[in-house]
Amino acid sequence: MQDLITAEQRFIHLFGDGKIESFFSPGRVNLIGEHIDYNGGSVLPIAISLGISALVRRRADAMVNVHAETFSETSSFSLDTDFVFQKNATLHWSDYIKATLQVLKDNKVKMSGADILISSTLPVGSGLSSSASLECLIAFIFNENYYSKNRVALAKDAQLAERKYVEVNCGIMDQYIIANGKADNAILLHCDSLKQTFIPADFGDYQLVILNSNVPRSLATSKYNERRAECETAFTILKNIDIAENLCDVHEVSLAFLEDDILYQRAKHVILENKRVLYAAELLKSGDIEAFGQQLTESHISLDTDYEVSCFELNMLVHYSTHFEGCIGARMTGAGFGGCCITLVKKDRIKKFISYVGKKYKEKTQLEASFYLVDIVDSVRRIK
Ligand code: GLA
Repeated sequence: MQDLITAEQRFIHLFGDGKIESFFSPGRVNLIGEHIDYNGGSVLPIAISLGISALVRRRADAMVNVHAETFSETSSFSLDTDFVFQKNATLHWSDYIKATLQVLKDNKVKMSGADILISSTLPVGSGLSSSASLECLIAFIFNENYYSKNRVALAKDAQLAERKYVEVNCGIMDQYIIANGKADNAILLHCDSLKQTFIPADFGDYQLVILNSNVPRSLATSKYNERRAECETAFTILKNIDIAENLCDVHEVSLAFLEDDILYQRAKHVILENKRVLYAAELLKSGDIEAFGQQLTESHISLDTDYEVSCFELNMLVHYSTHFEGCIGARMTGAGFGGCCITLVKKDRIKKFISYVGKKYKEKTQLEASFYLVDIVDSVRRIK
């Protein structure tokens, strides 16, 4: 039934007749440069056409009523009360909204309530940044005049919601690309200075195909914070040896000073991955897509063996993809421990690719993989 009536009709059914505004916030794929943003290096993300849509009607009072179609659930709360987050609590989807609104409240933004209908084409918790997309969307809806002119501030405030209240000590990449992305382009972003360059993401004869392992990213939060801490420890040792602002700036030869094997592996990934990003960006610019694809696979190997954030299922997706004729590169994308891979596949081989990898993956893991072909789109925005 839901598909037969429009989102506007569903909104009116829930909240009554009247003027409706509409917004969209994309998800993101990072082409290359994983676990680099919090180490001060460069990343190469894109904003994708899978994302979250919101229909909104402003209210005169302070009530916020949000219906999330993905969960068939409505959450209602008042902007007058401060939102309290318990340490290590399991979060409800509405907590991401409250965390963002709390940052706006902390910033003394004047807000009135709203009725909101949210529908998403982004698979939840699959490494395509559904939480950053929601945080950027909510911040944008409630403070559009300011954020439409200051998109770096939007990214930073959405990141703050995640760090301060959701308690994932994330970098800036996800919120930055969702707030600043441009159709058909990747952003080469230096995460320390926030210097950005648009790079046309033209893959020529190849198509970007996203593969969802459908493995929930259960360990992601704790392991993510653990990796970050390991990088900080490695940098504490290395910054005394190299004059460097960030772990990404340390010279590869200085790795020899790390006696602890784990710290060595983590720092090695970070330093070499950062170099790979800069090289890959040049390859993309010059249209050498085959060589670009190879860098994706190199990145995956490093994330699996040195940074240890992959998992069996992601490795199987990368394995079968790279063994398929017509696929020129594959890697996990995002934080890891489940979630999605990206691949570059010859356009006329996509159908066969999906059926081959899907079948092999199922045989090996008993799981169904999902496949998405996406466009590269603009940042979070008002539709009407
Ligand atoms: C998550 C974080 C990002 C980034 C990636 C790994 O998506 O939110 O800040 O660190 O993992 O590259």
